[in-house]
Amino acid sequence: MAIATQSFQDRLMDGDMTLDVSPEVDPSNLVYYKLCSADDFEEGEGKPFTVEGTHIAVFRYEGEFNAVDNRCPHMGYPMSEGSVRDGVLICHWHHWEFDLKTGGCFITSGAGNDLKSFPVEVWDDGCLYVGLAPGEKEAARRRRIDRGKYILEQGLKDRSSLLIAKAIAALRAAGATPQEMIQQGLFYGAYKSNEGWSSGVAILTLAANMWEDVDEKDHNLFLVHGLTQISRRTSGGSRRQGFPLPKTSDEPDLATLKRWFRRLVDQRSSSAAQRILMTMYDRGYSSEEIADVVFTTATDFYFTGDGHALDFANKMFEALDYVDWEGANEILRPIVVDLVGRERHEETARWEDSVPVLEDIFTRLDEMWEANQENEAPLDISAFTQTLLGEEFEPIVAEIEDKLREGVKPTDICRAMTYAGAIRTARFHLKNEGDWHDVANIYSYAHALYRAFHLAPSKELLRGIFHGAVFMTYLRWLNMPAARLPREGQRLDETFASEDKMLDRLQEFADFQKVFEAEVLVSQYLEEGYDIAKLRHTLAHIMLREDAELHMFQVLEVAFRHYDLSDDPKEKRMHLLAATRYITAQKVMKGILWSTENAERLQRGELLSERDDDN
Ligand code: FES
Repeated sequence: MAIATQSFQDRLMDGDMTLDVSPEVDPSNLVYYKLCSADDFEEGEGKPFTVEGTHIAVFRYEGEFNAVDNRCPHMGYPMSEGSVRDGVLICHWHHWEFDLKTGGCFITSGAGNDLKSFPVEVWDDGCLYVGLAPGEKEAARRRRIDRGKYILEQGLKDRSSLLIAKAIAALRAAGATPQEMIQQGLFYGAYKSNEGWSSGVAILTLAANMWEDVDEKDHNLFLVHGLTQISRRTSGGSRRQGFPLPKTSDEPDLATLKRWFRRLVDQRSSSAAQRILMTMYDRGYSSEEIADVVFTTATDFYFTGDGHALDFANKMFEALDYVDWEGANEILRPIVVDLVGRERHEETARWEDSVPVLEDIFTRLDEMWEANQENEAPLDISAFTQTLLGEEFEPIVAEIEDKLREGVKPTDICRAMTYAGAIRTARFHLKNEGDWHDVANIYSYAHALYRAFHLAPSKELLRGIFHGAVFMTYLRWLNMPAARLPREGQRLDETFASEDKMLDRLQEFADFQKVFEAEVLVSQYLEEGYDIAKLRHTLAHIMLREDAELHMFQVLEVAFRHYDLSDDPKEKRMHLLAATRYITAQKVMKGILWSTENAERLQRGELLSERDDDN
């Protein structure tokens, strides 16, 4: 893992966000390029040149020549089209003004809007020459990236989606990598908030994970979604500074740090627990070792924050790996707020019946883990999915214990739990009062657990399987009545000239809130063997064109990942039906109407668990 040393990030922490667009250049290093005859210029005239890939605007003003970057830092208008008055260069698009000699911008505060200036001379041959430092093209590209990051910082501070979108467009045009943009957003979201792992940083992580699932034309949109949500969840004030424990000759070992971290989280001592996490990072413990501490602590409590604590912990490690742990000292801290502050389900009345049963099972974790490591057994994922959808949790958790002792891989049980989560989602009836988040949460939690077992498997993490299984049974009411699923072979009463026409129709169904028709269409698309990548692009586009919230992103990612993991066509189909339903249904939340209708039915003595419609 890399220690954070990025200069832009350091400047953010120092509160210095100015950009040096015209740094000192050693004149002896300059290479001069001939442009044209000096006589070609009229007084006051500007001309554009491209030299070695560098775009330059040259002006003749009061007999002298000046050269600046030809792209206006505001929105890229060619500066050579501008005019000069009293030594001030004016861009004609939005009338920003610059000192012609230095490129300094008069319009806004901060040097981030300055133009780069270049030395220009008339030589003895009567021609005009411009001096460029070696590597100027790459330097210009880096300046555009630095300027884009500066604008992005402003957009995040101002909570301006437009400014954020402009920054992203400029950064991508300058060749900034998604990793650079995502790292900046993650760091800002972690550093400029006193809250936990927010939806914005989670969406940015999902953008990284789903980059290949999304059509290239939607990449900017995906980033703007995450960054806009970060801007809404941050205040501009910074998280209180934190430091690792002082170094001593008698350092606490990893087991001690882990024990302290678990106790401090248990005591809800957030800043002290953050300090332990920063110490582990500072002392160079591996991502697996840090993940083991965090995942163990996340499962010390029951389904903390409706599963979000474990889910966000997984997202955090995915994000850190994606950015090579750059900025980890800050990015690691918010998860502690989730571990400390979110609801622990053992403290709720709902779990009163299951906690004693699970506590008894947890006394046998050591032997269960030992047996699991010694043995090896396959799992019929489809059959076990049906087990997990049972009504009573006791036989289910007993069967999980048996399977683990037989040597079934925990990741296989997590896959079955994810499949069960897909069914809960696909069969979630539109008439339910809210609760959509519950099915998304178990679906995403099961996937996070699957990932956690890959990163840092442990006997303690086994508890997460039992927590998830119990919660799955608590959600059985959300499938009463169960929404109908498209039958295999079911077709819409219309014909399509191509797969693209089908996908156009899918977008229309989403627009017009036709959830079941959208599901039938997806089922047909899959059965007819059309291009899955195009279907993924379309589902992602349907989501991204809305002001989508985190759960929609989570459901889509899980559906895509588990579609890829499975060889079973029925399971693959169920994941995509779940995603289709979740994304298209979120547009049909008729909360007031349904609440009123439900209240009237209850008043009439009708059972809400009986279906009164076709869907
Ligand atoms: S592009 Fe120059 S001021 Fe807007």
